[in-house]
Amino acid sequence: MMKVVVFGAGYVGLVTGVCIADFGNTVYCIDNLEEKVANLNQGKIPVYEPGLESLIKKNMAAGRLFFTTDCTKAVLDADIIFIAVGTPPGENGEADTDNVVSVASTIAEQMLKEDAVCRKYKVVINKSTVPVGMGKMVQQIINDKGVSDEYFAVVSNPEFLREGSAINDFFRPDRVVIGGDCQKAIDKLKELYRPLYLIETPFITSNMETAELIKYASNAFLATKISFINEMANICDRVGADVHVVARGMGKDNRIGRYFLHPGPGYGGSCFPKDTHALINIAKNAGYDLKIVKAVEEVNAYQKSVVSNKIKEIFGSDLSQLTFGILGLAFKPNTDDIREAPSLTIIKELIQMGASIKAFDPEAMENARLILGDSIYFAVNIDDVLEGVDAMIIITEWNDFRDINLIELKKKLKQPVIVDARNVYDPQKVKDLGFEYYGMGR
Ligand SMILES: NC(=O)c1ccc[n+]([C@@H]2O[C@H](COP(=O)([O-])OP(=O)(O)OC[C@H]3O[C@@H](n4cnc5c(N)ncnc54)[C@H](O)[C@@H]3O)[C@@H](O)[C@H]2O)c1
Repeated sequence: MMKVVVFGAGYVGLVTGVCIADFGNTVYCIDNLEEKVANLNQGKIPVYEPGLESLIKKNMAAGRLFFTTDCTKAVLDADIIFIAVGTPPGENGEADTDNVVSVASTIAEQMLKEDAVCRKYKVVINKSTVPVGMGKMVQQIINDKGVSDEYFAVVSNPEFLREGSAINDFFRPDRVVIGGDCQKAIDKLKELYRPLYLIETPFITSNMETAELIKYASNAFLATKISFINEMANICDRVGADVHVVARGMGKDNRIGRYFLHPGPGYGGSCFPKDTHALINIAKNAGYDLKIVKAVEEVNAYQKSVVSNKIKEIFGSDLSQLTFGILGLAFKPNTDDIREAPSLTIIKELIQMGASIKAFDPEAMENARLILGDSIYFAVNIDDVLEGVDAMIIITEWNDFRDINLIELKKKLKQPVIVDARNVYDPQKVKDLGFEYYGMGR
């Protein structure tokens, strides 16, 4: 079993750390936020992710998983060091790699503390999503600090987990991508991932640049599928077609595939918006104009306004006498992440038109409150959010919102209007109960 360090205790770092500890390795998760580390040590998990809390507690109790801000001893002992820190969008759309650079310097500084003779060979694995060329830069930073290639190698191992199903995605990935030039380092990482090898996970090895680009290309392609079906939904709304049947008819073609063809209010989250933008920037720096991905972004920005435009068509542009009940704030179900969530744009636009907003989300209220402050009313439950509002607007398709008693709902609403940005409800059934129903592309 190996000694592993993971820099960054966010979504990716926590999931990577705990899953690798569950394989039987000893894992130190290092974060520079003292409060976060203190909370983790008390069993308080900073993000909502199904299954994460119990797995963390299990591996802490087994003495395999530790959280600390002090990396000194952990780095010296480590066989493998993951970099899983945030790479937020920079000013001009490029990924901000300051955290990665800082961790690379820290690793080198710690390694230099050990006498060269007893210095342990380390594989430094870049899991953060970084611009093409960053892996080589990490290698260079560590070299420049005075650690020679004899003691370490850098490997790129991009992460593809989805928030909301991250644990399962880690244990049962569609593929593992490993990029690097050093076979010894690649073999070491494959050894760590042996349990995945045994369940016949495809491993794709490449040079570092290719691995880095696979991550961006994958996210940009998924974002493209979403923007594409959203445009089809917008056409369906105008010509009387049903986007779900269109998606099914397309998706049955294996060359297209059925996933990611669900219309909605636009994609959000910490990855697609940031990564599509960063890819456009990578292409620009390489002297190439990435037209498709630019269009994907443009469609997504438009799509985030489709819901408020529907509201304007239904109620007019002065909403000052109206209150809307928003169901769902997270950018998707099963997460408390509201980064770039369509809900934020929709709420802002409705408020600009004078509306009052009540909102409820099973997990994302705390995060939303930090951004929206007292500009809206945060309801305590589904009943509370729907009481006396002029329309129910579903923005995130949490399962909790699928079985609302519609007969009771009709008594609560001031006007029987449902705007369903995720097509959760069957339009005909809802209309038969006397509601005005507005879906996406149906
Ligand atoms: N969240 C996802 O769904 C997802 C999926 C795949 C890839 N990624 C990529 O993985 C990376 C991490 O994403 P995330 O969502 O986990 O981010 P996050 O913001 O949730 O967590 C990042 C953590 O890194 C810590 N950190 C920053 N600088 C540090 C330093 N110098 N030393 C120690 N800790 C430091 C922060 O305090 C934070 O806790 C990003 O590059 C992201 O694009 C994210």
